Amino acid sequence: MRILVTGGAGYIGSHTCLELLNQGHEVVVFDNLSNSSEVALERVQKLAGKPLTFYKADMLDREAMEEIFSKEKIDAVIHFAGLKAVGESVVKPLEYYYNNITGTLILCDVMRKHGVKNIIFSSSATVYGDPAFVPITEDCPKGKITNPYGQTKGMLEQILTDFHVADPQWNVILLRYFNPVGAHESGMIGEDPKGIPNNLTPYITQVAVGKLKEVGVFGNDYDTPDGTGVRDYIHVVDLAVGHVKALKKFEDQPDVYIYNLGTGCGYSVLDMIHAFSKAVGKEIPYVIKPRRLGDIATCYADATKAKNELGWVAERGIDQMCADGWRWQSQNPDGYRG
Ligand code: NAD
Ligand code: UFG
Repeated sequence: MRILVTGGAGYIGSHTCLELLNQGHEVVVFDNLSNSSEVALERVQKLAGKPLTFYKADMLDREAMEEIFSKEKIDAVIHFAGLKAVGESVVKPLEYYYNNITGTLILCDVMRKHGVKNIIFSSSATVYGDPAFVPITEDCPKGKITNPYGQTKGMLEQILTDFHVADPQWNVILLRYFNPVGAHESGMIGEDPKGIPNNLTPYITQVAVGKLKEVGVFGNDYDTPDGTGVRDYIHVVDLAVGHVKALKKFEDQPDVYIYNLGTGCGYSVLDMIHAFSKAVGKEIPYVIKPRRLGDIATCYADATKAKNELGWVAERGIDQMCADGWRWQSQNPDGYRG
């Protein structure tokens, strides 16, 4: 298929482009590079030994979207583009709603105009809020979302569902990611956050590489085995493969399909620090800090539905997540700027 990958220069997008090329798909990317580098796509092409087509474009720019859909014969869209920093979204709600919601509306309007109604959307386990039960199945009721970023995920799930209700030709796949970590095993592409990382694993690797002093552990008084927060960390390559597998749903009756992409295993913050210490070969220093506002105790997936319907399971375990994440960080201490 000829796939348009929005936000394809980003962390998950770049890994997905590589898996798409490896599986013989044609790849067209647009990205405004607001949180990424074109170097990622150069490396993807090198790794795949195949070219992709790149447009530096903003999804808020309707003319640019029109141009892409006029020039390229797109079969389906994998929609990663969006702003994603939880804390920043609380301070800049307008920017987040405008970029993520308006941008997606413009994208979908242009898709519709060009008769492209197949879309895979990057959603998040955040839509479950503080989950009613764990492991979380897709039937778990949506919960109270505590920040504008998460709200955009919940709203866009609803908006895309409404498109299908109004026009059953829309084939909508909502993928709810748990916590993507790690990097491609080559160490050539990985996560390259701007400034001080908000997420746990890039923070850990930046401590390991000597850029930051110690990891702050946000609370050790949760109702979990060691008191620290438990999450379902998933290797980014497994996540990327999940998108390629999801494409086969476009051959089925158009519908709204929802899948959790997680491993089904929960690891605590301290588990992750210890696993990374092992991968790095030295103890990673940490200090216990107060809880972070809006955090929940435990979140991990039941990914049986993706296994049964997509034939997808996460294959890479915690040791590989840490080894690959560390290889990327140690080989690229300054990310793509190095
Ligand atoms: P990322 O920031 O690395 O990638 C997003 C890309 O979108 C960036 O390259 C950015 O430059 C681009 N972008 C943003 N706004 C744009 C616009 N208006 N026009 C064109 N390009 C634009 O983030 P990621 O971690 O790769 O996440 C990809 C998607 O997955 C996002 O939608 C994110 O919300 C979602 N998601 C991520 C996580 C996570 O923990 N990383 C978890 C759940 C869901
Ligand atoms: N944590 C620390 N110290 C840090 C950073 C995080 O102790 O410096 C802890 C958090 O309290 C939490 C765990 O590490 O217990 C994971 O935190 P992250 O910030 O890495 O990830 P979250 O689970 O908070 O959220 C992530 C993404 C969201 C997404 C969600 C579910 O940031 O966008 O996973 O997919 F919605």
